[in-house]
Amino acid sequence: SKVTVKAPSSTANLGPGFDVFGLAVDAFYDEVTLTKTKSRITIVTDDNIPTKPDNNTAGLVVKNMKKKFKIKSGVEIKIKKGVPAGFGMGSSAASAAATAVAFDKLFGLKLDGNSLVEFAGSGEKASAGSVHYDNVAASVLGGFVIVKTNPLQVTRVDPPTNLRMCVAVPKLEVPKKKTKVSRGVIPKKVKLTDSILNLSNASAIVAGFMKKDPELIGNSIKDVIVEPARKHMIPGFDKVKENALKAGALGVTISGAGPSVIAFSKSSADLKKISSAMSRGFASAKTECQTVICKP
Ligand code: HSE
Repeated sequence: SKVTVKAPSSTANLGPGFDVFGLAVDAFYDEVTLTKTKSRITIVTDDNIPTKPDNNTAGLVVKNMKKKFKIKSGVEIKIKKGVPAGFGMGSSAASAAATAVAFDKLFGLKLDGNSLVEFAGSGEKASAGSVHYDNVAASVLGGFVIVKTNPLQVTRVDPPTNLRMCVAVPKLEVPKKKTKVSRGVIPKKVKLTDSILNLSNASAIVAGFMKKDPELIGNSIKDVIVEPARKHMIPGFDKVKENALKAGALGVTISGAGPSVIAFSKSSADLKKISSAMSRGFASAKTECQTVICKP
């Protein structure tokens, strides 16, 4: 028997919610098909990704789930990548999420959302070096997610239907261990006043999702800790942000660990203007970019 599951791309952090907030983004999808086999874990793909189970997010998820549930059967993992890898759109997370959900179905485990997120997150170790659940939680559960850890407790909230977004994916050479590199530039210590600013904005984002208020969400994605430390890795970032805000975006920030940039809006009419404004911003830094108007 076999099971196929598709999982969406996602944007993590939403500014001040570093490692805590995630949002599923209807722009790109990964598709994973799991098939029971005699023995061993094998990976089949046409994409340029590691095929050794220990170095592949999906491979690690299967390995961990097989071990936990004492499953003897082998599993073939077929992966079709749709989420661009290394651009801050939760690519490794989408494969891990689809795999955890597919494994649960294939072996009839009936796990709850929290456990699926936990197993999917265990696969992220293959790419990021450390476990963080923001992207996998969004990819598994959809919508807006808040990740509380120790113990893991994920909360999902439906985004307001009139929240609009646009993502700009620059065509850059991304470093091999991009997530690791971009986690390395974040300050180890922060000023209390900065932490207060971020906490107030993060709280307002949660309130915005609860109250279905796109304006409150968009106005609150201001981040004074991580974005300033990372933006130098994104050529043209300041211009992209300035342009998008001028074109009517409610708020603009780095998508996950970058280099993609997201902008929120509450009007579909503004989205075209915002997306071309972001393209122009990247062009000013001699960087080509693809913009996608998408649904959170
Ligand atoms: N929260 C993580 C980070 C997401 O910003 O490093 C990376 O995928």
